[in-house]
Amino acid sequence: MTDCRITLCLTGTAPEPWQAGLSAALPGAHVSVWAPGAPPADYAVVWAPPQQLVDEQPGLKALFNIGAGVDALLKLQLPPGLAVVRLDDAGMSVQMAEYVCQAVIRHFRELDVSEADMAQGQWRFRKPRSRADFAVGVLGLGVLGSRVAQALHTFEFPVNGWSRSAKAAGVLPGVRTFAGAAQLNDFLAASRVLVNLLPLTPETENILNREHLSRLQPGGYVINVARGAHLVDADLLALLGSGHLAGATLDVFRTEPLPAGHPFWHHPQLTLTPHTSARTLRDESIAQIAGKISALAAGQPLSAIAGVVDTGLGY
Ligand code: NAP
Ligand code: GLV
Repeated sequence: MTDCRITLCLTGTAPEPWQAGLSAALPGAHVSVWAPGAPPADYAVVWAPPQQLVDEQPGLKALFNIGAGVDALLKLQLPPGLAVVRLDDAGMSVQMAEYVCQAVIRHFRELDVSEADMAQGQWRFRKPRSRADFAVGVLGLGVLGSRVAQALHTFEFPVNGWSRSAKAAGVLPGVRTFAGAAQLNDFLAASRVLVNLLPLTPETENILNREHLSRLQPGGYVINVARGAHLVDADLLALLGSGHLAGATLDVFRTEPLPAGHPFWHHPQLTLTPHTSARTLRDESIAQIAGKISALAAGQPLSAIAGVVDTGLGY
């Protein structure tokens, strides 16, 4: 029995299945849907909540975000000491690994070209290309990036990875790791395909810009599965136009849905998907959040909980 009060504020998502799932997983908890003026709660389960929720709930001990990225949440004025907990995998890393591997393989094997040929009634073989010429660089080696890097390694691509802090030797077998701003240029120069799995923070916003993308090996390919504000749209278009980049697969955009008339729509070198590379899986997420609420309510320290956000770092 977990005796606590939980409020739900899931902008854009129906709260009822979450309310039912959390109530079932946490007998004794009172789970309600937040509305202005709602009674005080101990924990909030949120996606893109309004500032009003935080302002009206000074007794909250933790905010549980039903996604991995907390960039939208951290735009709010949060009281110091309010814990922010994000989803820690919860079924996302396998989805991200399959999405990125398919994008890399589709480009490397030129399956898009074969599809177009077949659609024209043309039976044509492509000359096999060497995967040694398609080193993949993964920006961000956290929960998702490390899983993606390891999945790419199983397909025998050369894999590079970049993170803020250096990874200990042997933590990511088969991945050549780089860390910090000082090693970013070397990481880019060693990579032809670039996968972005960084959190969106003031340090990483606009990181996919002309200067950095120009450092990729010629015929580079960009896969952005993190946030649209990492990418400078005009710089990508210019480098596609110049031929330095061969193409890109984009799952995330500065404005979502992608506005009508945006030059990305119908661009022949772009493959677009609607922010779907790794979805929040409701049952897995409810089980994870309920487990963490039980642990906190039983007196375990925050340091024992995975996915606690460092609000100073922004992820
Ligand atoms: P995570 O576990 O927090 O990993 C973040 C990684 O980025 C870490 O390796 C971190 O380095 C690195 N990093 C952060 N700031 C950096 C900087 N300034 N310079 C270099 N490296 C930096 O996050 P995650 O769970 O893997 O998720 C990553 C992002 O994916 C989320 O923030 C979200 O935006 C996005 N996402 C997208 C979808 C989708 O459907 N498109 C779904 C889920 C998540 P350290 O290892 O040194 O800490
Ligand atoms: C989705 O983009 C997430 O951050 O979970």
